[in-house]
Amino acid sequence: MTGKLIVNGRKKLSGQTDIQGAKNSVLPILSATLLTGGENVIHCCPQISDVYSALRILRYLGGSANLEGHTAVIKCDCITRSEIPENLMREMRSTIVFLGAMLARTGQARICLPGGCELGPRPIDLHLNALRKMGVSIDERYGCISCRVRDRLRGAKISLPFPSVGATENILLSAVLADGTTIITNAAREPEISDLCDYLTACGANIYGAGEGTIVIDGVDKLSGCVHTVIPDRIAAVTFLAAAAVTGGKLVLNGTVSSHLDAVIPLFEEAGCRVIAENGKIYIRSPERLRAFKSVRTMPYPGFPTDAQAVMMSVACVAEGTTVFVENIFESRYRHVEELTRMGANIRVANRVAVTEGVERLFGANVTALELRGAAALVVAALAAEGKTEIEGINFLERGYENLEVALSELGADIKKV
Ligand code: EPZ
Repeated sequence: MTGKLIVNGRKKLSGQTDIQGAKNSVLPILSATLLTGGENVIHCCPQISDVYSALRILRYLGGSANLEGHTAVIKCDCITRSEIPENLMREMRSTIVFLGAMLARTGQARICLPGGCELGPRPIDLHLNALRKMGVSIDERYGCISCRVRDRLRGAKISLPFPSVGATENILLSAVLADGTTIITNAAREPEISDLCDYLTACGANIYGAGEGTIVIDGVDKLSGCVHTVIPDRIAAVTFLAAAAVTGGKLVLNGTVSSHLDAVIPLFEEAGCRVIAENGKIYIRSPERLRAFKSVRTMPYPGFPTDAQAVMMSVACVAEGTTVFVENIFESRYRHVEELTRMGANIRVANRVAVTEGVERLFGANVTALELRGAAALVVAALAAEGKTEIEGINFLERGYENLEVALSELGADIKKV
């Protein structure tokens, strides 16, 4: 969907909102349903375009997949295909998460990686090296990847040079039905990894150490579908906290796991916000003027999440003082800087470092979103800005946020989609 958002800023937000299910947890879990017999019922499934794309892929492969409200009902008893066609590739960036599952289910997989990605080069060398160790032969040609395993995936000892989230997920999905034991060292520790392992364990997998640096998987012969509730989206939660902070508002976020935000909440407190987290809710009350938090360095979990860097930059832009950002995870994740500058932000970028000098006020402008989290940053900045902001490219926003503008307008923002 194309379209744009019109925002008239400087309205204090107040009230409460429910946080959606985690995009980066539900996508690997939907892929993992390929490995199961019988019915899967996945609750707290966010209504976002990446989920619709993943369900279309499951149906294309031969599964039945329906979303009723926030519950996905999926059956993959008869999978007839093991490749993802061009048109479905284009819809969703992270189709790579289907690779391991298709391989484990059918013994082969073919995907054509989409060209230039909005976050700089997104190599998949860690995925492919791991799969080769598990007995997969891989042919990469013309941007397409064809994988085949002779008889059955075999367990292997895999040490990841970098705790890649996607590579950890692909190894997990290849290992749960493999012959023998797989040990992943330097595995990603994100909550979404633990959620995927919880789902797989409920389906009958033998996984030990999820959420730690070393994960051990003893392959089994079959997995059965189960009922699973997806964890809350920690990045959506940060986005609402940021919206409250820049408008001097006060919000209650329902259905959160505040421990997933241990690296982020202290920054809001440093900025002068009062934040209280208790039994699944996060309360935030913001001052009239924010003080700048000193620095943000993105790191693998449990460090500061790279997906929250852009929205926190919008907060820093209107806080009093200087903030230094260091983006250690992705090559080019400062594409929102130019657009924020058009709104009057004072930001200097040199490679992985961005320095923001808070300004008294941002001003509405016509800006364009270029990727998902940058789009969220522009929405947060528009809520803070004097006057009207028009944001183009909201299809990026809809990939990861469920009706963000509806939730924000219910909290008092003057924001609408046209
Ligand atoms: C997942 O991407 C998330 N996407 C990203 O969220 C998130 O930013 C990222 O993890 C880090 O937390 C999904 O879960 C669908 P990585 P992923 O493999 O798996 C390099 C969002 O906004 N790398 O941990 O792609 C890679 O280039 C999205 O919701 C290799 O070099 O992240 C990057 O610089 C954006 N070779 C770094 O590692 C590889 O084989 C982190 O990548 C794989 C990755």
